[in-house]
Amino acid sequence: MKITVVGAGAVGATVADNIARRELAHELVLLDIKEGLAEGKTIDMSQTAALCGFDTKLTGSTNDYAKTAGSDVVVITSGIPRKPGMTREELIGTNANIVKGVTENILKHSPNAIIVIVSNPMDTMTYLALKSSGLPKNRIIGMGGILDSSRFKYYLSQALNCSPADLHAVVIGGHGDTTMIPLTRQATLNGNLVSNLLTAEELSKVSADTMVGGATLTKLIGTSAWYAPGAAVAALVESIVRDEKKVFPCCVLLEGEYGQKDICLGVPVVLGKSGWEKIVDYKLDAAEQELFNKSAEAVRSMNSVL
Ligand code: LAC
Repeated sequence: MKITVVGAGAVGATVADNIARRELAHELVLLDIKEGLAEGKTIDMSQTAALCGFDTKLTGSTNDYAKTAGSDVVVITSGIPRKPGMTREELIGTNANIVKGVTENILKHSPNAIIVIVSNPMDTMTYLALKSSGLPKNRIIGMGGILDSSRFKYYLSQALNCSPADLHAVVIGGHGDTTMIPLTRQATLNGNLVSNLLTAEELSKVSADTMVGGATLTKLIGTSAWYAPGAAVAALVESIVRDEKKVFPCCVLLEGEYGQKDICLGVPVVLGKSGWEKIVDYKLDAAEQELFNKSAEAVRSMNSVL
């Protein structure tokens, strides 16, 4: 198994670190346009192998796509990150050209790769990568919902004073501060509905905090977060390379599912060796469906900027 991560910034490097530590590949290539950055970071990571006990070979590359040849999975994190006060959507102008170019270069050397898009605005970048590459829909996956769901579980665990690992809670819709939809009605703690354990006010605070989870961190740190995004990508990649068939919310092409078509948006999917293999229907109620439709409308208007 060979995996490439494009972009050796904080998110890309953390993805690479997580993938190496979990030994998800025999070789991982980290590529960046900045001279020496990917080489330096992969050598630094390789020097943790004796301490952490992994055998994944890490290769750094300054924009040499030949080194990525034959990759099974490629994660694209390229582009500029958010600055405090910026929405993910404001990044579209710069990141659209970058994501399109990177996708083309990758496919020249790895025509069979499954591509995971992390660059923001992620829903629109996923749609762009799908349309510009013409790849089968199952091989283009946007990463947002796994991260947002993990943040949702964090805020729920704080409110409930419980382990995040005991929670099942999912965020669907867009990966934007106003477009994501934490499914509070369906969230459970060891099978018990959290709506029976928290008041409506507590739940709506959890939901609001989740939606601005990324923005809160950008304000504190001065740039986008990376630990949770890196771990979220690794969980997604793990289900693909180990063919685990785990269900995670991911941004994929909808063709009538959840009442929408010709759009990439976050819905629960089964992840396995062919990429995303199936969309799972979580049976939204009328209020949730209305939020989903609004989210689709916002993402669609962003897509039209392309
Ligand atoms: C975040 C970025 C990765 O939500 O979109 O932190």
